Amino acid sequence: MKKLNVGLIGYGFMGRTHSNAFRKVNNFFDLPYQPVLRAICARDENNARAFAKKWGYESVEMDWRKLIQREDIDLIDIATPNNTHAEIAIAAARAGKMILCEKPLSMDGKQGEKMVKEIEKAGVPNMVWYNYRRVPAVTLAKQLIDEGRLGRIFHYRAKFLQDWTISKDLPQGGTALWRLDLKAAGSGVTGDLLAHCIDTAIWLNGGIGSVTAMTETFIKERKHNLTGKVEKVGIDDACAFLARFKNGSLATFESTRYARGHKALYTFEINGENASIAWDLHDLHRLQYFDHRDEGKLRGWRSIHITDSDHPYMKNWWVPGLQIGYEHTFIHQVADFLTGLDAKKPAHPDFRDALETQYVCDAVLKSARTGKWEKVPKVK
Ligand SMILES: NC(=O)c1ccc[n+]([C@@H]2O[C@H](COP(=O)([O-])OP(=O)(O)OC[C@H]3O[C@@H](n4cnc5c(N)ncnc54)[C@H](O)[C@@H]3O)[C@@H](O)[C@H]2O)c1
Repeated sequence: MKKLNVGLIGYGFMGRTHSNAFRKVNNFFDLPYQPVLRAICARDENNARAFAKKWGYESVEMDWRKLIQREDIDLIDIATPNNTHAEIAIAAARAGKMILCEKPLSMDGKQGEKMVKEIEKAGVPNMVWYNYRRVPAVTLAKQLIDEGRLGRIFHYRAKFLQDWTISKDLPQGGTALWRLDLKAAGSGVTGDLLAHCIDTAIWLNGGIGSVTAMTETFIKERKHNLTGKVEKVGIDDACAFLARFKNGSLATFESTRYARGHKALYTFEINGENASIAWDLHDLHRLQYFDHRDEGKLRGWRSIHITDSDHPYMKNWWVPGLQIGYEHTFIHQVADFLTGLDAKKPAHPDFRDALETQYVCDAVLKSARTGKWEKVPKVK
């Protein structure tokens, strides 16, 4: 097994999911590579050292530029806020490193284009962590669609609902609340949550041609953690949009952080001429499937428990009937990346795929401003 030396930047929520994936992947998948946790990079030295100790990183760097220059690092993993992705990814590509980058790829499509150009010029393997593609139930949905079981697809419906920013006393910005700060996040729920829905949708149902959207910022001003002043809130707190897919199907997408009672309710439903599929993140190991071609008296929604060895990724886990969860999606993504590396068949979504999602996000935000239908540009 070849060693693959990882330098991770950021030890927050995603830093933990990625570290867990790098550590476990070889225990469950037979792979040509073994990730080695060479270095963790973050700005707070004490926290970084504590993280390194807990997760088994061999060293700590305080400056990502130094990390990128290290010869003992093969792969840079970017798990930092959105406004840092471009600079780090471009520098890592120029240094010839492989890159795994958190979503959304960039602050906007224009910045994403520069990233794609640099990464492709450098020819370095790359992938973006749109991990929901690798929930086994979602991967199975993709297989069923590709097998033609749904027939022509008419409708795609997606939602991502949360409720954690309802208090007007919640500040914006800084270490814990960068998602509320436009300068750090690029957008609100559109880039943070809908980007996931859009990536899954494009993967399952093909490209999106045009969109019309509305957004709202319910709390207009919040204290900024970095300046201490009350400042305008620039992010979208909620966004709903209609879309036309290039295959002729119609879609609705909705996301908000103001749906009291919902913490991370990502759902989608797809209706085709023969069959429908529905999935829900709160019940992520189940896929709901309805097939009109079933015998009439038995026809109905089936709730498939995705734990069998026939189901995607599941033969690598426990015995049928025992389910897996959220953290496994990241393990699957690393497994696919490492397999693709050796086979020279790159895993997806790569930076180019993620740029397409970025273009949809841009068109959504533009439409919310113009009040018109906006076309989604093609990725060149
Ligand atoms: N794939 C997913 O499902 C998913 C889920 C959550 C977040 N994300 C994405 O992951 C990224 C990180 O989000 P998070 O929730 O882990 O954030 P977080 O706030 O929990 O962690 C961010 C980390 O980045 C570090 N950091 C910030 N600026 C830095 C710099 N200049 N140099 C080095 N370290 C720096 C912070 O110290 C912190 O350790 C974001 O792009 C976010 O959109 C993806």
